Amino acid sequence: MISQLTIQQILSRIDIIDIVGSFVKLKKRGTNYLGLCPFHNEKTPSFTVSPAKEIYKCFGCGKSGNTISFLMEHEKYSYAEALRWLANRYNVEVEETEVSPATRALHQTADSLYIINNFAQQFFSTVLLQSEEGQDIGLSYLKERGFSTSIIEKFQLGYCSQQRDAFAKAALAAQYNAEYLQKTGLVVLRDEQLVDNYRGRIIFPIHNQTGKIMGFGARIIGKSDRAPKYINTPENEIYIKSKILYGSYFARQAIDKADECLLVEGYTDVISLHQAGIEHVVASGGTSLTPDQLRLIKKYTANLTIIYDGDAAGIKAALRGLDLALEEGLHVQLVLLPGNEDPDSYVNKTGGEAFKQFVADNKKDIVLFQLEVSLKDAGSDSNKKAAVVNRIAETISRLNKAEDFTKQQDYIRQCAGLLKIDETGLNTLVNKFIRERITKQENKMASDDAKLAAETGVQETATTEEEALTLLNKDELIERNMARALIEFGGYAWDEKRKVADYFFEEFEINGLHELIDNKQMLWIIETYQSWIKEGIDPSPQRFLYHPDMQLSAIVVALMDTRYELSPNWKDHYDGPLLTREDRYKEEVSSTLIYLKLRKIKRLIDENQRDLEKTVSAEEQLTLMQTHLHFKQLEKTLTTAYETVIFK
Ligand code: CTP
Ligand code: MN
Repeated sequence: MISQLTIQQILSRIDIIDIVGSFVKLKKRGTNYLGLCPFHNEKTPSFTVSPAKEIYKCFGCGKSGNTISFLMEHEKYSYAEALRWLANRYNVEVEETEVSPATRALHQTADSLYIINNFAQQFFSTVLLQSEEGQDIGLSYLKERGFSTSIIEKFQLGYCSQQRDAFAKAALAAQYNAEYLQKTGLVVLRDEQLVDNYRGRIIFPIHNQTGKIMGFGARIIGKSDRAPKYINTPENEIYIKSKILYGSYFARQAIDKADECLLVEGYTDVISLHQAGIEHVVASGGTSLTPDQLRLIKKYTANLTIIYDGDAAGIKAALRGLDLALEEGLHVQLVLLPGNEDPDSYVNKTGGEAFKQFVADNKKDIVLFQLEVSLKDAGSDSNKKAAVVNRIAETISRLNKAEDFTKQQDYIRQCAGLLKIDETGLNTLVNKFIRERITKQENKMASDDAKLAAETGVQETATTEEEALTLLNKDELIERNMARALIEFGGYAWDEKRKVADYFFEEFEINGLHELIDNKQMLWIIETYQSWIKEGIDPSPQRFLYHPDMQLSAIVVALMDTRYELSPNWKDHYDGPLLTREDRYKEEVSSTLIYLKLRKIKRLIDENQRDLEKTVSAEEQLTLMQTHLHFKQLEKTLTTAYETVIFK
């Protein structure tokens, strides 16, 4: 874990205009900056960044957040990765806090493995490009296959010499730990000696999404029946096969732009396509897609196009991940290449433009493709055909999100056509599968929900849409104002002795106002604020904005709306004092507190009224009547006070 001190150092240096501005072209407009939203396609800018509030918001697509969530969204970083990126940018040294020994060991091992891999990549690249053996054997092989020097350098390819232990020796001389060296799979122990594991092979480094090297694939040169074509890094702390998408680091931007991800099988396919100018491509490593890989793709785009050679094994592998892909909401298409071609050989034959055209012309929807394949298999066997109908209904039922409804209906129509069966019948069958799954999910979710609510105290997520806001009743709006005023003005002076927050919580305690807050999110903010005061932590607006719990941070971002800010020019055109919220913070705080107290009195009056209806004893009735009058008097005083504050 990154220490609080480091986080504070990073946060104090953050300049949202500088950071967001390095990804989005921003123009100053009043107090804010405006640009074209990077999260959706638009021609007129509606992406607003407020330097004062350190937040961004797009009025077109509704995306909003702080500098960290921007990096998480735009660069697909995790929270910690975003912090590290910022630390690097601002030259802040990252200090790690005490973590459990097991976690620390894991991190240390992971770091060491990355460092060794980095060293190895440089070593093997140097051997490939500069040594005689590397040039004669490795480089000439790659050149023969058509790879240019610049693409070899871009993908950081290398060569491991045929000598017994050239790399092992270099690594040990550079003081790398023998145990970690073995973990990377780069060396193995033979007769108590470390020897190179990838001798005489081409080295393909495998980068994670941020460009760090997780492991390697080592390809034999030419053909051999005795040795495996590839030797890959064994599973270790950083090389987790099910999470790897080869090429994702180099493809990120292109996938964003194309809003499509091409999926191929091999490393060489990715590299050749890049060389031909097709960069939105990743490789699965020849196995069927895992849920982690699908989720990774979904971070970039919903459109997945699988390009495989026409052999049966490839097709089967593609179809195996289909249901999962549909559930992730991916729109999957399939392109089969002619004959025995794979993307590498085919693009080398046709060139980039023709390849693109072929893909565009031969994309097949994978659900329909699956149906065609299994119908062919079934032939005229009606039992088999029934199984096909069931199977396809189940597949279609996976598209069970509101936004996929039209797609689902389309599939039902097209599949019913292909199967020559009744459309309504297929519809019913699909619905049956949906119902079955929902029942299963509901049972599971009921228990998950309870758990989550207990952990966070939150039942719903923040929404900032205007429509949603108008749906809120006055109580809700007041609560939101209150939380916002507390965050923004809590540190301001209330009187000579107290800060706004001190006064605020005194009133809260005296009047028992906690229980009156209905909105759990606002209560969460208020209670977080109070607990920070108790722990001696400064509850600054920034601390809220960059709260490590992204759920809380998102709620706070939603509260800090940038829309109603006045531009500085406004004041010049307006005679007389123009009071801002800032000038009137005391009124804002008082009014919300009085409103809450009024709510409390109203509830007390109601309660009293109910008691009055129940009681028969005259004596009790009298007391209750007196209480009623007392409450009514209080209500009146509060109402007057409220109006005075509001309309002053
Ligand atoms: N693969 C592997 N081990 C093997 C064979 C294949 O890990 N013994 C994985 C590799 O990730 C490889 C992918 O499956 O990139 C596709 O296999 P293949 O098409 O045989 O290899 P290519 O990388 O395409 O190599 P080439 O173009 O030289 O045939
Ligand atoms: Mn291949």
